[in-house]
Amino acid sequence: HGTSRINEQGHLEIGGVDSIKLASQYGTPLFVYDVALIRERAKQFQEAFKAEKVPFQVAYASKAFSCMAMFQLAEELGLSLDVVSGGELYTAIEAGFPMDRVHFHGNNKSIEELEMAVEAKIGCVVVDNFYELNELSRICRSRKSHMSILLRITPGVEAHTHDYISTGQEDSKFGFDLVSGQVHEAVRIASKDDSLTLLGIHSHIGSQIFETTGFVMAVEKMFDLISDLKAQFDFVPTVLNLGGGFGIRYIEGDTPLPVGEYVHKMIEVVKDKAASANLNMPEIWIEPGRSLVGDAGTTLYSIGSQKHIPNVRDYLSVDGGMSDNLRPALYQAEYEGVLANRANEEATETFSIAGKCCESGDMLIWDLPLPKANHEDVLAVFCTGAYGYSMANNYNRIPRPAVVFVEDGQVFEVITRESYADLIRLDLRLPSQAVK
Ligand code: LLP
Repeated sequence: HGTSRINEQGHLEIGGVDSIKLASQYGTPLFVYDVALIRERAKQFQEAFKAEKVPFQVAYASKAFSCMAMFQLAEELGLSLDVVSGGELYTAIEAGFPMDRVHFHGNNKSIEELEMAVEAKIGCVVVDNFYELNELSRICRSRKSHMSILLRITPGVEAHTHDYISTGQEDSKFGFDLVSGQVHEAVRIASKDDSLTLLGIHSHIGSQIFETTGFVMAVEKMFDLISDLKAQFDFVPTVLNLGGGFGIRYIEGDTPLPVGEYVHKMIEVVKDKAASANLNMPEIWIEPGRSLVGDAGTTLYSIGSQKHIPNVRDYLSVDGGMSDNLRPALYQAEYEGVLANRANEEATETFSIAGKCCESGDMLIWDLPLPKANHEDVLAVFCTGAYGYSMANNYNRIPRPAVVFVEDGQVFEVITRESYADLIRLDLRLPSQAVK
């Protein structure tokens, strides 16, 4: 997919660059991003909105993969940015991202984070709860400043995805509850607060969703709410943010729709609902993460040891694992891969790909068909662009990999590999009197 192909040497090539050259130049594990594919995905979302002639913002949910280069690219692509922490906001500031296109999410933003957002004059804060509503207002007033906000609503929609990444159901830590009247109370408070401008409402039902049903239900619930808010407070939102969560194809059996289809389906219902409620079309915002960067990322690993258990299984171990991709261990996520140096050879064996961490659960792929592989081979695992590097960790004191962007035969290193020295950068030695 994307610009990936097999070159004359039988090597996997991405963005016009030989993956084996990348592996030897930058080492492994290595995250390789196909920039052209990120561009294409952003364009698909934006074109879908343009075709509907609806005012919109596509915000990149930066939790999927954040670094300064990614934010520079997001700016160039005309994306807004959804950040969820002071760290992501700091990265955006350092990357020079336009602050008026930054949206700040999270169910427990700290006072410091809210102050930072007000200070940086970001586009809006997506307020999650009463505590935050109150604190944000206090911070704005004390600084004689101002902030635009959206209210995050728990839409009460069950998304059909893994429990841990489903967020729209009623029993959720996120957002103002729809059924118990919390939303109405929040609108009442926010709309009479001079330091806050209530732009609209937000809902996000979950992640890695294939069907449009959940999104359609969320739109319907949001419009019932909008009619209600209009009647009660004469409040009509100018922005309706429908969140992210559009699924991608990790393995052959996955059946996501083309990204434009999700947009089209949602807008269809929005238009219909707005017309029947006699309302102006709100600005529609979405915040995809995975569907913008997920399939653009490939991880290259060097293969090391093997274990053959007769009549049971063949294990192949790679030089990374749950330290650079937590998803299989956390969500039983599935991936596909090939030998990057022998990409044109037929699969004759079945290997289970183990990571190097001291955990039996550190398995990247079970039962992967491959040619007969050995320690000279490089394994490419596909679709690791979202929630791979961003959830990478130093378990077992394994340094985090390097990340490169490739496009049109050019390579840009965007995150350098962590060194052992980096690993002890924050460690402090005990003073001599403390070591008996
Ligand atoms: N907006 C909100 C409010 C979110 O909570 C999320 C994801 C997104 C947008 C972006 O969702 P996406 O388009 O990327 O599906 N670590 C998990 C995914 C957790 C998603 C959390 N929120 C994984 O690796 O599958």
